[in-house]
Amino acid sequence: MTELLFRGATVFTPRGPTRADVRVTDGVVAHIGNVDPVKGATVVDVRGTYLLPGAIDVHVHSRDPGFPDKEDFGTLTAAAAAGGVTTVIDMPNTVPAVDSAGVLEAKAALARSRARVDFGLWALVRSSTTPDQLRELAAAGAIGFKAYLGYALSVSRRQVTHSFETEDPDLEAPPDYGTLTRLGPELAEIGLPLVIHAEDAGVLNTFRRPLETYADVLASRPGEAESVAIAAAAAVAREHGFPLHIAHLSSASGLAAAEEAVSAGTKLTVETCPQYLWLSEADFPRISTWMKMNPPVKTLHDQATLRDGLKRGVITIVATDHAPHTDEEKSRDLEHALPGTPGVQTLYLSSLQLAKEMGDISLAPRWVAEAPAELGGLAESKGSIAPGYDADLVVVDPRQSTTFSPRMMRSRQKHGALNGMRVEFAIDSVYLRGMPVVNGGRVTAGAQGRMVRPASVG
Ligand code: NCD
Ligand code: ZN
Repeated sequence: MTELLFRGATVFTPRGPTRADVRVTDGVVAHIGNVDPVKGATVVDVRGTYLLPGAIDVHVHSRDPGFPDKEDFGTLTAAAAAGGVTTVIDMPNTVPAVDSAGVLEAKAALARSRARVDFGLWALVRSSTTPDQLRELAAAGAIGFKAYLGYALSVSRRQVTHSFETEDPDLEAPPDYGTLTRLGPELAEIGLPLVIHAEDAGVLNTFRRPLETYADVLASRPGEAESVAIAAAAAVAREHGFPLHIAHLSSASGLAAAEEAVSAGTKLTVETCPQYLWLSEADFPRISTWMKMNPPVKTLHDQATLRDGLKRGVITIVATDHAPHTDEEKSRDLEHALPGTPGVQTLYLSSLQLAKEMGDISLAPRWVAEAPAELGGLAESKGSIAPGYDADLVVVDPRQSTTFSPRMMRSRQKHGALNGMRVEFAIDSVYLRGMPVVNGGRVTAGAQGRMVRPASVG
């Protein structure tokens, strides 16, 4: 039996912050309160710090297998650990795309050999996906399903691709509202969430244009692309009763559509990302193509509306859409630069900063740990500091600040869109199931990550 005792931190429990000791036995939180050390226990003096639940980033792109020049599970999870993210849920647009139980199992084996933190896997919904494939993916341990509305699939490369091409015989048509309607009964029966990339293909197609300036980017992907996709997908979800999750919400229009869907009784959850909460079009001259991503960062009005949606609890999750590309791919001109920014390492600190500015630091662990655990079906073992829960713990020092810089980044891609930002917190150490994975800001973890599966699926 191994015993760990954290002494004297402000502990962020589901009921709020409290000054307490936390005893961890064999990787699990055993007791919160005043604890006398048992013989042989390792005592960790954390007076003056915050003890927070490890974050669960429900939206990352490991690029593994497929694009080792961009990232792999080792570099992704080193960045995650360094940022206090103890579980990552990986998107299925790796290569081969995660469209069958066999591919999911092979990806899980690969991830297990490299992951420094725990991980879960989303499965892909193609326009050709069958009800049986959904059941097999669920049985293989998928956290849920992801449909890239408007994204085609290259059949020969087994890769999700953004393309407006319709004549290419190698491209399978993107999944659409018809696909969701067809699979609705099985999605409801299985009960796992369906995540959508919510930009409507028809709207995007109408507003396509060459991207010369950031105004072109904004005009080519208007907020209505989000609201139309959300309203339509929500109508299908409501009809069939399956849980729908909106990835990376970026606009005021999208938020209004999500709010309407919730009032109409849809089982709907919404995530946004730090880049949409902290950046706007005004930052493009400074950040340039490193800020190119889909959906695009929009206006200050959108930013303020998203912050308000988070404050009001319409948006409950902050995830990163960590999407690294190589320096060469990111430094092309605006038209050809690939979309996406790394972010997993800065999720927790940027969320703490926003929560502090909103006047309640305990909002941050709700956005990045508690609500994500619920989405992933992990809320019985992760996302909270409570007896019986995995001791995924982050020690944050509120007396130190951090400025996001390429030098500190553990991802293969060093240039996150938030680089240059200063926050009034620093990560001191991180524990995964009671094992130290970051110490004094340094990543010490080996490949200790386990695959997590949703609890309630038979
Ligand atoms: C994502 C990627 O690179 O995998 N890029 C992005 O800008 N978000 C794909 C996607 O989600 O569109
Ligand atoms: Zn993504």
